[in-house]
Amino acid sequence: MKKALVVYSGGLDTTVCIPVLKEEGFDEIHTVTVDVGQPEADIEQASERARLLGTKHTVVDAKATFASDYCMPAIAFNADYFGYPLSTAIARPLIAMEAARVAKQNGPFDAIVHGCTGKGNDQFRIEFGLRQHAPGIPIRAIIRERNWTRSEEIEYAEKVGAPIAQSKVKIWSIDENLWGRSIEGGRLEDPSFEPPEEIFQWTTSPERAPDESTIVEIGFQCGKPVALDGKSLPALELIARCNEIAGMNGVGRIDMMEDRMIGLKVRENYECPGAVLLIAAHKALEALVCAPHERRFKQLVDAEWADLVYKGLWSDPLFEDLTAFCQQIQSRVEGVVRVKLYKGSLTVIGRQSPWALYSEADASFDDASFDQNAMAGMVQTHGMSSLLFSRLKEK
Ligand code: ARG
Repeated sequence: MKKALVVYSGGLDTTVCIPVLKEEGFDEIHTVTVDVGQPEADIEQASERARLLGTKHTVVDAKATFASDYCMPAIAFNADYFGYPLSTAIARPLIAMEAARVAKQNGPFDAIVHGCTGKGNDQFRIEFGLRQHAPGIPIRAIIRERNWTRSEEIEYAEKVGAPIAQSKVKIWSIDENLWGRSIEGGRLEDPSFEPPEEIFQWTTSPERAPDESTIVEIGFQCGKPVALDGKSLPALELIARCNEIAGMNGVGRIDMMEDRMIGLKVRENYECPGAVLLIAAHKALEALVCAPHERRFKQLVDAEWADLVYKGLWSDPLFEDLTAFCQQIQSRVEGVVRVKLYKGSLTVIGRQSPWALYSEADASFDDASFDQNAMAGMVQTHGMSSLLFSRLKEK
């Protein structure tokens, strides 16, 4: 009796794994789909295909955990990998952890199987998470092992009669969760090809967005968004609502060149309306409450965090160190940020916080309590070495 568990999205890559495993003599195949906010139809398609393929199927609803334990830290760290809010990246460790849990509950398994190709980042993230949470179970990467191209996968699926009907006509490779949607492949592989309107699902084109702007007020506590327009909302609903509001105003489209872990440059398109909105608001609040040297240091911390997350290393010691530092700062990231959304643009138009390191009296042009004369000495000695340098060059 040979048992395998497939980390199953229901798409082409993971679907073809199942007949391969059967051919290899696995007689009991389990599938697990982790719901991190992908479309309901995808979850249903996975369940239907699992039924047709005769696997023992489990769906794990991890949406709320994903929102509170993965998206919220992404906001606190202003998630940004060269312009990418890390939407796919932050979901992989959770998917791996939940799959490992299912493996332990229904095991023992002879293999735990994923459908990542050998070209992407997800093979690193998923396998690291599986080795962390389900140590000892052999990991199989069927597509990578066979070195299959997309057309070879389709050809094989048709030969063995695997249910891939819709996947076959899909031109784009899409990955979707609550934090964002990624679109790759097809003609988008040509970096000079303009993304056609049809690739977008979450965002209205700026041209077609409403002629009236939308103003949204986001309330933060401890660096976490907790309220929208004065109404308290749990993380999951708040992010979903931000995706809608920003998306309908054409905000959140990202078209970029991305440097993958293996050293490959690829063209990526993302729709991350909620992430773009929430991170912009969070940054505006940090700018109000953080000291200048804190802000500069936090940028370094954010960049290191993004790099670890891109690589899927959620349990690196540095990850924990950065988290401790970030939490300390976030305790003051409290207040309200007002943002205007209009035809693809996002503008912070107001911010307030009980922790603001800002004195209107001192900064005002109309105030006399700050003695300007006190500055004379400081200004006179400003740039002493710079000045010396320029004198030396003149000689
Ligand atoms: N390049 C992104 C990342 O590595 C997203 C990849 C998403 N996959 C997809 N099939 N569109 O995080």
